[in-house]
Amino acid sequence: MNLAVQIAPEHKSGLLLSNPVMTASGTFGYGTEYPHLFDIQKLGAIVCKGTTYQPREGNPQPRLMETASGVLNSIGLQNIGVKALVREKAPIWAGWRVPVIVNIAGETIDEYARIARELNGVAGVSAIEVNISCPNVSEGGAEFGVDPKTAARVTAAVKASTSLPLIVKLTPNTGDIVKVALAVAEAGADAVSLINTLKGMAIDSRTRRPVIGNRTGGLSGPAIKPVALFMVYEVAGAVTIPVIGCGGITGGSDAVEFIMAGASAVQIGTASFNNPRAPFDILRGIERFMENHGVNDLAELIGAARG
Ligand SMILES: Cc1cc2nc3c(=O)[nH]c(=O)nc-3n(C[C@H](O)[C@H](O)[C@H](O)COP(=O)(O)O)c2cc1C
Repeated sequence: MNLAVQIAPEHKSGLLLSNPVMTASGTFGYGTEYPHLFDIQKLGAIVCKGTTYQPREGNPQPRLMETASGVLNSIGLQNIGVKALVREKAPIWAGWRVPVIVNIAGETIDEYARIARELNGVAGVSAIEVNISCPNVSEGGAEFGVDPKTAARVTAAVKASTSLPLIVKLTPNTGDIVKVALAVAEAGADAVSLINTLKGMAIDSRTRRPVIGNRTGGLSGPAIKPVALFMVYEVAGAVTIPVIGCGGITGGSDAVEFIMAGASAVQIGTASFNNPRAPFDILRGIERFMENHGVNDLAELIGAARG
């Protein structure tokens, strides 16, 4: 059975995964926390925590709460900063078989470019995933990924600063995600991943205050799966670069649905909080589906639900 998938076919070195299952950024740390628990080398790829130029403490507590069928989070990109990542984490990743993709986040376009430059040529870093769901501090705080032109400018700036394969991670908090996907593809993205969290909030009726310290948060988990699946379907129908599906994937059958919608690979986020083995169980679930349905090559399933 062939589960291998090429995520960056247009890139000179490409990004070949042994299978389509990756961890989603912010939900699996740096991967270094887990090798004693499971064989992480079996995963298709690991996407590490969102990384900024300077280290960040993140947002005020509370930052995470469970909702009906999901999680609201406002972690605020707590991370060690790109220089510490290159010094302390990349040398460990360099000894791994599983590719590690570094998710990056900036407050300005220049910050995105500076982070990408720091990662260029670093052994152990296989690709960059650009999180464009961050507030654009120099232009009023709207997410970079809301406007196709701004999203394209971030993509082009990162592309010019790195020779690594580039995945752009799209936000669902925009009027037309297809337009943003087309704009970042045109600007040089090798693949797109979607979706990031949907903006949401919760209010404590006793205190009459928002529950999350930062007032709002991002919703993830099973609650967002139908929205994510629809957006993957729409984007995969519009772009010619690979699409990576993410949002509420909890079991192997969810992953198969995203692949049938047109995703070449999937990312597993919130499901890992309930079950840290979720990415492994989901990989096994995809394999079992293929066995049971006589599918020898994953490529046969990609986009199978498209008419
Ligand atoms: C606690 C938490 C932290 C996250 N941190 C990041 C991050 O740093 N960068 C990013 O691009 N996405 C981040 N995400 C979004 C996830 O990677 C994923 O896109 C989203 O949660 C939807 O997938 P899921 O429903 O499988 O969790 C975070 C999500 C959660 C729940």
